[in-house]
Amino acid sequence: MPSTDGDPGVAPRAISILGATGSIGMSTLDLLVRNRDRFRVQSVTAQRNAEGLAKAAITLGARFAAIAQPAAYGALKSALSGTAIEAAAGDEAVIEAAARPADLVMASISGAAGLAPTMAAIERGTTVAIANKECLVCAGALFMRRAAARGTTILPVDSEHNALFQALGAGRRCDVRRLILTASGGPFRTWTAEAVRNATVEQALRHPNWSMGAKVTIDSATLMNKGLELIEAHHLFQTPARDIDVFVHPQSIVHGIVEFRDGSLVAQLGAPDMRIPISHCLGWPERLAEPARWLRLEELASLTFEPPDLVRFPALRIARTALEEGAGAPTVLNAANEVAVAEFLAGRLGFAAIPALVEATLDAAARKGMVREPASVEEALALDRTARSIAGELTASASAVLH
Ligand SMILES: NC(=O)c1ccc[n+]([C@@H]2O[C@H](COP(=O)([O-])OP(=O)(O)OC[C@H]3O[C@@H](n4cnc5c(N)ncnc54)[C@H](OP(=O)(O)O)[C@@H]3O)[C@@H](O)[C@H]2O)c1
Repeated sequence: MPSTDGDPGVAPRAISILGATGSIGMSTLDLLVRNRDRFRVQSVTAQRNAEGLAKAAITLGARFAAIAQPAAYGALKSALSGTAIEAAAGDEAVIEAAARPADLVMASISGAAGLAPTMAAIERGTTVAIANKECLVCAGALFMRRAAARGTTILPVDSEHNALFQALGAGRRCDVRRLILTASGGPFRTWTAEAVRNATVEQALRHPNWSMGAKVTIDSATLMNKGLELIEAHHLFQTPARDIDVFVHPQSIVHGIVEFRDGSLVAQLGAPDMRIPISHCLGWPERLAEPARWLRLEELASLTFEPPDLVRFPALRIARTALEEGAGAPTVLNAANEVAVAEFLAGRLGFAAIPALVEATLDAAARKGMVREPASVEEALALDRTARSIAGELTASASAVLH
């Protein structure tokens, strides 16, 4: 993590957006369009949404557009015809987009697919604004080690980590007692255990405060998102799991709190709008003006905090255990969770089976001795694949643990 001390420098200028067609990517685009004089766009990438990618590239005046799925190349090329924007397809093209010269790369691909491109940006020494939390969950030690070796600045986009990053500027690291991540509690915060178990896809996708992609919205409903963020915070801030707490804060106004050893709690507050942390990263160490609506304190009835219920929402407990076990366990956790969420969204798995499948996969992986910490992106991806296949087998066998 960079120091938050020192003079404000010059704002980053050349930006690349990995995952430009996604929720974070589109919020980034909105900010860039409103601050055209401060930024120029080098590369934009997507997986398969050629039309959306071409639109983003044209709107932003990007130089290079890379689409991961080769089958989408034709559509991208024709949507870009008549422009000077270079187009390419395939995973290697996305990695190239990440590695092309830029001042800042917005790493906002979803899932483990973001590992290799994000690492390419880190290896190049480009400042990386990291939204793709899976990089830190799957191979956090490796990513932080390589960033340190290359002198790469990593800025946290996730609202909670961005809040902690801002609050950490209030004191010395040696004076920090603990970090507190807040969680909205998701749509099922007040539901009974039985109602949570039987929650439908439609209900789980209805987040009370945030508008996000489907995967992260389901993760918010299970509280696995907070588990992933716990792992993310551990790596970003080099803080042991025991010194990171989670509190449910349904209003989603206080995003993160740093408790110092003199009893001071320093928090970052803001409207629940990802454009605020994204703009903090784009402008850092300066600030962009008016990225989102203002938070009107006089309209807030109350700010409440409560400990998470780990019985109704076991995913957070499972993630903490995986972090404490360390080595490859968080990688397995993430992969199993991706499989479980995809199965849930496809209607093949119940809501309660999401954490059950993750835990069963972790147990199976431990029994197979898959405990090694990934030493490279390739090793992380290999472990990710193995964990996915274990999770897939458990699902296909309709394992008793899932019912
Ligand atoms: N959304 C939020 O508010 C939020 C908040 C905090 C952190 N995050 C994190 O930020 C990341 C992005 O989240 P999101 O909500 O923006 O996701 P999203 O809306 O699903 O967008 C994902 C983006 O990644 C691209 N992509 C997906 N798979 C890919 C692949 N295999 N190769 C290359 N590109 C691929 C997608 O392209 P296509 O459109 O072509 O599929 C899209 O541009 C996630 O790690 C999430 O946990 C999100």
